[in-house]
Amino acid sequence: MTKPAIVIRKVGADERAAWEPLWNGYLTFYKATLADGASDATWARFHDDGEPMFLLGAYVDGKLTGIVQYLFHRSTWTPGDYCYLQDLFVDDSARGLGLGRALIEAVYAAAKEAGCSRVHWLTKTDNAQARILYDQVADNSGFMQYRKVF
Ligand SMILES: CC(C)(COP(=O)(O)OP(=O)(O)OC[C@H]1O[C@@H](n2cnc3c(N)ncnc32)[C@H](O)[C@@H]1OP(=O)(O)O)[C@@H](O)C(=O)NCCC(=O)NCCS
Repeated sequence: MTKPAIVIRKVGADERAAWEPLWNGYLTFYKATLADGASDATWARFHDDGEPMFLLGAYVDGKLTGIVQYLFHRSTWTPGDYCYLQDLFVDDSARGLGLGRALIEAVYAAAKEAGCSRVHWLTKTDNAQARILYDQVADNSGFMQYRKVF
């Protein structure tokens, strides 16, 4: 199949209605329910220049079809920041066309430009589809995540 032209750019503050179905699709994928106000706060942070939290979209024929959300954070191991790629989602109808890869590469570019020395992220060990892509663009650190939820 011919791969479509993909445009990667910031999702504007006036595009919440286009972002919301992808964000909800991602949360459904993880069977996640957020606390009241979490999505509002997240959306506001994406568009606040004082917040180190960012949203990029993948557009196909002008339609927002995939999203990646990431943040810069301090590290005790480096004078610069690290970049945590927190959320990546591509609409079902456009899987396998290169949007996910393009979104990850755009985060790499943004992180490098900001002086980050690392982009890192988590995935579930059984997320086979995502891991096909991840194994091509990054290294498996071998770390396990422990978590205590309050
Ligand atoms: C993981 C995900 C973001 C990948 O997005 P995508 O746009 O389908 O990924 P790409 O098209 O860039 O795939 C890159 C590679 O992975 C493989 N691949 C991934 N999905 C594929 C699919 N549905 N069909 C065929 N190949 C696929 C291909 O080998 C492809 O390599 P190629 O570009 O050399 O052909 C997408 O499947 C998704 O949103 N999944 C649900 C949410 C999720 O798992 N998010 C990540 C949580 S950590």
